[in-house]
Parts: sequence; C-alpha cells; structure tokens
Amino acid sequence: MSLSLPFVTQVGFDSGTLRPPHKRIQRRLSDMALMYADRAAAQRILAQEGDRLIYEYQFVELPSAEGQLPHGSTRILPGDIGGEYHMTKGHYHARREQGEVYFGLSGRGMLLLQTEQGATSALEMSAGSAAYVPPYWAHRTVNIGAEDFVFFSVWEARAGHDYASIERDGFRQLVVMRDGAPALAQNPKYA
Ligand SMILES: [Fe+2]
Repeated sequence: MSLSLPFVTQVGFDSGTLRPPHKRIQRRLSDMALMYADRAAAQRILAQEGDRLIYEYQFVELPSAEGQLPHGSTRILPGDIGGEYHMTKGHYHARREQGEVYFGLSGRGMLLLQTEQGATSALEMSAGSAAYVPPYWAHRTVNIGAEDFVFFSVWEARAGHDYASIERDGFRQLVVMRDGAPALAQNPKYA
C-alpha cells in the first residue's frame, strides 16, 4: 500500500477553476462536430466562426487504484449547434458497475442518462443540485441556460471512460431549443 497524503483544492463556483491548478482538458466543436444531430450546422459554424470552445474540465489526477477518488469541475459554455444545446461528449464507465456524483455549482443544466437496455432519464440541475449517476447509466450534461453551467464531480479511479458507443450513436434523447426553451427530442438515429 502506498499512502496518499490529504490535500485541499479551491474550486471557483462560477468558473470551475481549480487552485492550485490541476489537469485541464478542453473540448472544441471540432472534437465533437459529428455528435450533434445537425452536422451541417456544426460544419457551418466551424467554417464561419471558427473552432468554438464547448466545454472544459479540470480535475485532480490520482493513481488508478481501488478506493482513489478523482474529482474536478466541468464548465459548459452557453450556446447551441443548430438548436441543440452545448453538451459534453458523454460516456459510460468502462467498468459499468461504477457510479458517480455530480454537484451543481452555477448556471442551469440538464443531466441526460441512459442504459444499454434502453432506459432514459433527464434531470435538471442548478447550483446546489447533487445528482446521482447510478452504476450502468451513461451520462451527458447539457447547458440549458444563458450563462456557463458549472458542476463538480467525484468518481472512482478505476471507473474509466467509454466514449465509443456514444460517439457512434449519441444519446437517445436530445436537448433542443423549442420556442426559446429547452425541450427533449428523440434522437433520429435511434428511430
Ligand atoms: Fe462518468
């Protein structure tokens, strides 16, 4: 057993910034242009506006060992791609039996979940929301507000991220703008 030492990290509720700084990953539109239902809109934005930042996450990297709990923040910028709100890629855990907790820090979001057997769920989140992602549920977050949506998450170090099936098929439900408000729509890929 190697003993980890305790430490504390300051988290900016509005920015998601970690102090001291830890690992930071940015996802731009070009990283996920194929994941939006309206791919033509994604290509148009890339051509006309450039490679928009969709979200970034910062997290405390820890050894991939049983019992370690990596944690960090995600900030999704406001906006949409062809009427579909900015979102994270979303993933299953490679080890499907691992759950996760999300805690809303600022802004308004939607947490989309689904299982490989076809169950779906959509939960609204805001500052103070503690959302539970149970084992076996894929999860994606969506910014449905006009400001940044920021949340904090804690997961088990060996959970792993399985993006492949989501990159191929997306989620069963889309979060789209309807009369200026968020609404759920069926992903035509699952029709
Ligand atoms: Fe996760």
